[in-house]
Amino acid sequence: MLRFKSIISRIVFLHIVAVAITSILMSLALSWLLSFATDNIHDKAMQEQAVSVGNRLGLDSDGRLQLDLPLDLLGLYSQAYGRYSYAVIDDKGTVLFSSLPDHTALFPADTRQAPVEFLHHRRGNATVFGASVKKTIGDQTVWIQTGEDLANRDVLTDDIVADFYRNVGWITLPILLVLLLADIAIFRRALRPLREASEIAEGIAPERPGVRLPTEAIPREVRPLVSAVNQGLDRLEEGFRIQRDFTADAAHELRTPLAVLRSRIDLLEDPKMGDALRHDVDGMAHIISQLLDIAELDTLALQPGEKADLQAVAAGIAEFVAPLALAQGKDIALSGPTEPVWVRGNAEMLGRAIRNLAENAINHTAPGSTVEFVVEDNGTINVLDRGPGIGEDERKLIFRRFWRRDRRKQGSTGLGLSIVQRIAELHSASITVENREPSGACFSLKFVALKS
Ligand SMILES: Nc1ncnc2c1ncn2[C@@H]1O[C@H](COP(=O)(O)OP(=O)(O)OP(=O)(O)O)[C@@H](O)[C@H]1O
Ligand SMILES: [Mg+2]
Repeated sequence: MLRFKSIISRIVFLHIVAVAITSILMSLALSWLLSFATDNIHDKAMQEQAVSVGNRLGLDSDGRLQLDLPLDLLGLYSQAYGRYSYAVIDDKGTVLFSSLPDHTALFPADTRQAPVEFLHHRRGNATVFGASVKKTIGDQTVWIQTGEDLANRDVLTDDIVADFYRNVGWITLPILLVLLLADIAIFRRALRPLREASEIAEGIAPERPGVRLPTEAIPREVRPLVSAVNQGLDRLEEGFRIQRDFTADAAHELRTPLAVLRSRIDLLEDPKMGDALRHDVDGMAHIISQLLDIAELDTLALQPGEKADLQAVAAGIAEFVAPLALAQGKDIALSGPTEPVWVRGNAEMLGRAIRNLAENAINHTAPGSTVEFVVEDNGTINVLDRGPGIGEDERKLIFRRFWRRDRRKQGSTGLGLSIVQRIAELHSASITVENREPSGACFSLKFVALKS
C-alpha cells in the first residue's frame, strides 16, 4: 500500500485520483446529456416534418386522400437527396403514400396507438430514425411517418457532441489542477504556524523550561496536540522546579548543622584534631555552596539591559583570591585596559564564574608560578595558569557536573566548571580552553561587549 509521510503529498495524490475520475465522469455525463438533448431536437424536428407533411394531405372530390407536396418538400424527400423520407399509412397499415422507391412504410413496427411515436428501423445498412404522427382527415385516420437516415445525420450536431466530449476533459483538467494548486497553497499556509511552533519547540531545554508553544495560530484540528504538549511541559517544569527546590533546600538545611559542627570543633581540646576537622568541614561547606550556586543558577535569568564592568569584577575577584594563592606560595597578576570594559551581564554572576576559574587555576598552577587575569576590551577575560593543562580528551568532560580528574582530592566537587558554563550560557558568552607552552591552561570567557 502507498504510504505518504507528508500531508501535502497525500493531498496531491488523492487530488490527482479525484481529478482523473472527475474529468472522465464529467465528460461522460455531459456528453450523454448533450446527445440526449440532440436526440430530443431530432425527434422534435421529425415530428414537425410529419406535421408539415400532414398539412399537405387533403381529400379530393371523390373523398380520396391526396398528398400535394410543394417543391421544397419534394426536394427534401427526393431519392437523390436520400437523407429524409416519409410515408403515410392508414389505420390498417396500408401504405398510402411513400417517398421510398419500393413504396413501403418507414417503420413496419409502427403500432399506430399513440398520437405521436418516435421509432427507428434498420433499412439495408442504414438506420432510419423518425416519428409517426396520427392525423384525422374527414372520417379517415392516417399516420404520417417521417425519418432521417442517420448515416446522413446532421454533421454539425454530431461534431458538437464529439468536440464537447473531447473538450470537456481538457477544460476540467486545468480547472481541477488550479484547484489542486490552491489546496496546496491553503495547506501550506495552514501548516505554517505548526512549522513556527516546531522551531520554538527546538528551543525547549532544561535551562529554558518556561518555553510554551503558541496555540493561537495553530489550526483547530491540531490544537489539541499542541495544547497537550504544553500541558506536558507544564508538568515537566513543575517536576523540575520541585527537584531544584529540593537541592536548594537540602543545601540550605545542611548549613545549620555545619555551623553547629564548626562551633563544637572550636570547643575541642586537641588543636591538631580541631584543625583537621575544620578542614573537613570547610570542604563540606564548599560542596554545599557549589550545590546552592547550581540550584540558584538553574532558576536565574539575565535581566534585559543589565551590564557589568568586566575589568572591575576581575579586579575584585583577584583581590578576593589573592590570600588563597599566597597561602599556597603562588602569585596573582591582573592586566587589562585602564578603561572599564562594559559587557552585557550581571556582576555577581560574572564574579562567580571568574572566581571558579581563578580557584581552579590557583589549585593547579605550579608552586611559585603566577596565575594571570587578562581582560581584553572586546569583553574577554582569560585566566592563565602554569599547571598541567587540560588534555584534548578532557575538554568536554571538565564541564560535566561532578567530573574531576582526581576523585580523591579533598574539597573538589567537580561543580565549578559546570557553574562557569551555566553562567556563560545565561550571558550568551562563549567559553574556550587552550593549553599553554610549555605548560598550563588558558580559560577564556568571551562576553557580549557593550559600546560604552
Ligand atoms: N586550570 C586547570 N588545570 C588543570 N585541570 C583543571 C583546571 N581546571 C579544572 N581542571 C580539572 O577539571 C576538573 C573539574 O573542574 P571543576 O572546577 O568543575 O571542579 P573542581 O575544581 O574539581 O571542584 P569545584 O570547582 O566544584 O570546587 C577538576 O577537578 C580538574 O581535574
Ligand atoms: Mg573548580
